[in-house]
Amino acid sequence: KTNTSRFVWGIDDVRNSLPDRKPDDHKGEHGKGLVIGGSKEMPGALAMSLKASLRAGAGLITGATTEGVIRMLSANCIEATYKELSETNGFLDNRTDVSLEGYHAVAIGMGMGRRTCTGDLVRSLVHTAECPIVIDADGLYHIKEDLLDIENRRYPTVITPHPGEMAMLLGITVNELLLEPFRYSREFAIKNNSYVVLKGMITIITSPEGEQVVNMSGNPGLAKGGSGDVLTGIILAMIMQGQTIFQALCNACYIHGRSADELISEKHSYHDLLASDVIDGLAKVFRIIS
Ligand code: APR
Ligand code: MG
Repeated sequence: KTNTSRFVWGIDDVRNSLPDRKPDDHKGEHGKGLVIGGSKEMPGALAMSLKASLRAGAGLITGATTEGVIRMLSANCIEATYKELSETNGFLDNRTDVSLEGYHAVAIGMGMGRRTCTGDLVRSLVHTAECPIVIDADGLYHIKEDLLDIENRRYPTVITPHPGEMAMLLGITVNELLLEPFRYSREFAIKNNSYVVLKGMITIITSPEGEQVVNMSGNPGLAKGGSGDVLTGIILAMIMQGQTIFQALCNACYIHGRSADELISEKHSYHDLLASDVIDGLAKVFRIIS
């Protein structure tokens, strides 16, 4: 029977589920993650996911992207490593095989654009990845015709749509979706054997079994390009660090929003807050939690 209980995820839930760092920790225990995205038009989206993932505690993070994006990011985002993928005119394509061997989790889609050649890459990786995969932003656009297949993946699939992207996946309008966001999320999650993070002022997290939790942290300062890319990076870090996938998603959403909330109460306003500030704000949130 489907579990239909719902509740708001809070700081005590984070404290109870986020594993402690141990004195003898080494980077291998905190996950080796791959972020696939970026294009000549949106290099910053990849940068924000990479940095956020490292700030959220991932052990090793690699950005897989075009040569041009690597050239732009590598001096700025120096803690990440990079993997060059093939491209057509500055957008990723499917001409070379990409090995996912050795990665504990993959995030795909941020800033990659909607070219057909990029779609071929996304679909082949989603079908073959033998690890948890987080699909966001343009990655969702590329799988919209192919949804039946995510149900057959043997490893967890996480999708992180905003209402526009969720409505696109469902083939309905945003207004229809927002009349019944809980029902649409649950039906989608169960039917496609996926975790769904439906983002917004209130974020609804749903497991493939239909369990649902709400996140209420965050504020309108997050309504700015890049904040979704930061969330995806945090999610990638969290799912590699010894929690259930569901707890990891709830913790990531809470921490992301709480970072923005702390920044607003301290030194920023809804107007000026930037996605990169939310990455810097993670320092304070982790100090509050621990
Ligand atoms: N209150 C609380 N949280 C909010 C609010 C709000 N008013 N507005 C946004 N957020 C949070 C969401 O919950 C989510 O975690 O900020 C994040 C926004 O994520 P996205 O909508 O994915 O935004 P992002 O990808 O950064 O930028 C928009 O998406 O549709 C594409 O191409 C479009 O470039 C655009 C991009
Ligand atoms: Mg987005």
